Amino acid sequence: MKILSIFINIFCLKYCVSITNLNYELQMIVDVVKSYEKPTSVIARVCWESSAAEIKLPKMLANLERPISVRYLRENETIQQPYPNNHLLFLLDKNCEHAEFFLKQAGAHNLFSKSYRWLVLGNSIQDNGNIAAEFEGLSISVDSEVIITEEKERNDILLHTIYKLRPNNEWNKEYYGTWSADYGLNKSEDRIHSNVLRRKDFKGEPVTTSVVIGDNRTKTDLLGLGNIFVDTLSKSSFRCIDPLYDFLNASRVILFAETWGYPINGTWNGMIGDIKRGKVDLCGIVTFITLERLPILEYLNQPTPVTAKFVFRQPPLSYQNNLFILPFTSNVWMCLGAFVLILTAILYINTKWDSMKYEKFNEQTLDQTCLPPTWSDITIFLLSAISQQGSSNELKGTLGRLVMFIIFLAFVFLYTSYSANIVVLLQSTSNQIRTLPDLLNSKLELGVEDVAYNRYYFSAAYTSKDPIKKAIFERKVAPKGKPNYMSIEDGVKAIQKRPFAFNMNTGTGYRIVSAFFREHEKCGLQEIDYIQNSKPWLCSQKYSPFGEMFKVGYIRIQEHGLSDRENRLIYAKKPVCSVMGGSFDSVNMVDFYPVCLLLLYGKILAFVLLGLEILVHRLQKRRSNEIEI
Ligand SMILES: *[C@@H]1O[C@H](CO)[C@@H](O)[C@H](O)[C@H]1NC(C)=O
Ligand SMILES: *[C@@H]1O[C@H](CO)[C@@H](O)[C@H](O)[C@H]1NC(C)=O
Ligand SMILES: *[C@@H]1O[C@H](CO)[C@@H](O)[C@H](O)[C@H]1NC(C)=O
Ligand SMILES: *[C@@H]1O[C@H](CO)[C@@H](O)[C@H](O)[C@H]1NC(C)=O
Ligand SMILES: *[C@@H]1O[C@H](CO)[C@@H](O)[C@H](O)[C@H]1NC(C)=O
Repeated sequence: MKILSIFINIFCLKYCVSITNLNYELQMIVDVVKSYEKPTSVIARVCWESSAAEIKLPKMLANLERPISVRYLRENETIQQPYPNNHLLFLLDKNCEHAEFFLKQAGAHNLFSKSYRWLVLGNSIQDNGNIAAEFEGLSISVDSEVIITEEKERNDILLHTIYKLRPNNEWNKEYYGTWSADYGLNKSEDRIHSNVLRRKDFKGEPVTTSVVIGDNRTKTDLLGLGNIFVDTLSKSSFRCIDPLYDFLNASRVILFAETWGYPINGTWNGMIGDIKRGKVDLCGIVTFITLERLPILEYLNQPTPVTAKFVFRQPPLSYQNNLFILPFTSNVWMCLGAFVLILTAILYINTKWDSMKYEKFNEQTLDQTCLPPTWSDITIFLLSAISQQGSSNELKGTLGRLVMFIIFLAFVFLYTSYSANIVVLLQSTSNQIRTLPDLLNSKLELGVEDVAYNRYYFSAAYTSKDPIKKAIFERKVAPKGKPNYMSIEDGVKAIQKRPFAFNMNTGTGYRIVSAFFREHEKCGLQEIDYIQNSKPWLCSQKYSPFGEMFKVGYIRIQEHGLSDRENRLIYAKKPVCSVMGGSFDSVNMVDFYPVCLLLLYGKILAFVLLGLEILVHRLQKRRSNEIEI
């Protein structure tokens, strides 16, 4: 019996200790998982000697408030992407045989990035306080959450998270918590803050921004407001980005590019090319969202409400319509036609009746003023009534006079309402240009602000995808082959002077509008989008570990009102229309063009009739001569 007890004791020294150790380890895993307070799936790469432990862990985890699943990866099993990253905890025992291989593989698959969580068992802190060499060369950056363990005394374990700001920097070690068998996990109070806020101190590390400029003077005057119409977008964007450097305690490194960046023969140029190649961390200027850019850029925040749009003053109504048929609706015009036809018939009957009645009387006195019952006389009579003229002929008798009275009265009212309406229409503007096709078919001239992005958006390469934009580019923007680029001042002045639509940065453009336009000219300014998604965003490289930090920084800047301040300093909103109709515009050719046409056609018709009459007269003369002969 004694021998047996000694035997058990010896056995226990070797195995019971390891079994209780294992139990502690399992308890620690469960406590760490529990501390996240969200559903978690565990992918484990462990090498426990007893398979009982592998069964015990899922059992313990299943008792948690938010049950989870566990998956064990076997020795050589490769990690297969994609794992949904938001609910995943990787569990790795560093002392396993292929642990290093597993870590390398995970690094290659970007599994240390945002939202993945790691718990590495086994002492990862060397005796001299350094981080174990296995972690070298892995991209464990600021967006990672990698917990390593350090065994202090028996069953008292320190947990740390580690990260590097950039691959070549030193390790940063953060205290995560302490785990002890008696008290469980005591998590550090710092963990209330998100990783972004805890790790945002760059300690003077450089962060590179690429700024697009069109004028070399901007290089030395990026924050100045003096020459604000030069590279406005670069300056306003950079003034919003600048506080981010203070937020991150990073040092400023600025590169300059000539254009935003577009794919040319498969490679990207400009700022986006630099970002894609990893030379640059941040876009230094707001950028449009396009489908091709989505795999390269991470869009962070929209600091300014300015966009690029076609802006124009609503043209006079006569640019889109014939003013002279507008006063009456088509129903009224049809009724008028019917009215005239009926009147003609009534007049004909009436004159016939008159002539019959006064036949005898007329024979004696030969009254010339009586309206004869012929169609041509009746038409002339009606025309003179319509156009408010008198007539030398009239109808006789009570019935005739009544008819005449009614005709003239009716036409006086019609004439008054018609001319009153024309006066209003002459001063009205048309709001019928609302879409790009309307713009294409309007009589407006088109111009484009001379900036780098417009050189792309108004080029054959971009417009060839869309027939409407192609037509706009070819027929309106570049009718003579050369696109109508102009400076923003010239463009805005053209809007003021003539029917002209100008694609401009609305923030700067409206500032000039406010300066140059008279009050009534600010009314009726209309905008049409040409570029899709024309709200520009600030951006960084896709999957950049700093993306979340930049985003939080930008939102802070916005919340503190700094971007709003820059926008108010640099841009203007669309001017409000305070004095409506105080204006007076002279009638121009376009307004009465239809009348001139009518006159012209009338004259041509008159000459044709004259020719016909002469012809008929000659024919009749010849015929009577022949008869005489
Ligand atoms: C694991 O892979 C290595 C080579 O990559 C091989 O030598 C070893 O036999 C494999 N082990 C198992 C258990 O498949
Ligand atoms: C947890 O840690 C804090 C200090 O970080 C300490 O004050 C507290 O006593 C600890 N709690 C337990 C239960 O050990
Ligand atoms: C900013 O970085 C410098 C090192 O360049 C460091 O000395 C300073 O403490 C940091 N400031 C803050 C507020 O962390
Ligand atoms: C700006 O400077 C660069 C070299 O510094 C030069 O190549 C470029 O032509 C200059 N651009 C203008 C518009 O002067
Ligand atoms: C793109 O490639 C074509 C043919 O490969 C070449 O003719 C053209 O010049 C290239 N364009 C640019 C901008 O390099």
